[in-house]
Amino acid sequence: MNYKVPFVDYPTHYRRMEGEIDAAIKEILSNGDLILRNQLRQFEENIASFVGVTHAVGVNSGTDALHLSLLADRVGTGDEVVTVAHTFVATVAAIVHCGATPILVDVGEDFNMDMGQLEQAVSPQTKAIIPVHLNGRPCNMEKLMRIASEHNLIVIEDAAQALGASFDGQKAGSFGLAGCFSFYPAKILGGAGDGGVVVTNSGEIAEKICLLRDHGQQRNTGDILYYGFNSRLDNLQAAILNVKLRYLPRWIKRRRELATVYEEGLSGLPQIKTPPPPQQGCYFDVYTNYVVRAQERDRLVAHLRECGIEILISWPKPMHHHKALGLGHYRLPETERISKEVLSLPLNTEISNEQVEFVIESIRKFYIR
Ligand SMILES: Cc1ncc(COP(=O)(O)O)c(C=O)c1O
Repeated sequence: MNYKVPFVDYPTHYRRMEGEIDAAIKEILSNGDLILRNQLRQFEENIASFVGVTHAVGVNSGTDALHLSLLADRVGTGDEVVTVAHTFVATVAAIVHCGATPILVDVGEDFNMDMGQLEQAVSPQTKAIIPVHLNGRPCNMEKLMRIASEHNLIVIEDAAQALGASFDGQKAGSFGLAGCFSFYPAKILGGAGDGGVVVTNSGEIAEKICLLRDHGQQRNTGDILYYGFNSRLDNLQAAILNVKLRYLPRWIKRRRELATVYEEGLSGLPQIKTPPPPQQGCYFDVYTNYVVRAQERDRLVAHLRECGIEILISWPKPMHHHKALGLGHYRLPETERISKEVLSLPLNTEISNEQVEFVIESIRKFYIR
């Protein structure tokens, strides 16, 4: 369907940087620099400096960033890892694939981990916590890091949706032993396909992830130190991401402006609960997704789609209700409520203020009948 207001607009996004992206691709293909080359090293340096850490290792997805970080930190069988159910399944899959047990806790009103519940979930088997900075809003990292340090737990941040977000002036992804980002095309910094990165201040973790992503082999000696994976970030992707990273600060500014337009336009509608405003205390939100809670959600979504507005719902069924995952014993009331109420409105760097006004108008028309 051709939407009047698409959720993302990849062709227009590309056209804005067409010359630079084409030049970067041409240079790589002309030189044959395809795997583990200069553009990847440059991107790793650039993203480490953007997040404010000393090391970054490009991998093939956000999922692998999480999985390899857990493995590098020796999380495995017998260990428990506390995270949330209100996240993309990849967060939990990474824990399961290490042989560890996911312990799911509920979220608070801002869709992020409830710190009181985190504290209650810690047991003698707990080895790590994975906070998820959902929708571009950071978790309360002051509380989380205090709990982690009191119980001597590793923190691996799932910052897949939060590149550029910060808590108390410090960037998401830079608090824990490792921070994991995704460059899935719809993310705030999206590649031309899959990609991810692990950022860390630990040289040891960075070195281990470099080995794990490349079959466990030490390229200079030929020694194989682990059974590893093929999880390198392609040089071509790194070159495209290098071009886009330069635009990220202005994209973040635009996203925050648009969030304010939505917030003001939807204010006074008791049926809609907007997310917290762009600058709320210590929280600096980048609005990777603009998620509202709505009364009569499913009817509203149908109405908006009829108006030509593309809407996403993340996620209509709570993760612990998917039978195949074996998590059915959990009762997480807020997560369950959220799944019935949330919808993501289009918010991207290509959208015009008029399009956002049209979305607001269409929502108001639905409720004010
Ligand atoms: C919160 C969260 N965690 C992990 C991932 C996994 O990232 P990827 O799709 O790059 O594997 C995503 C991506 O959608 C995500 O949103």
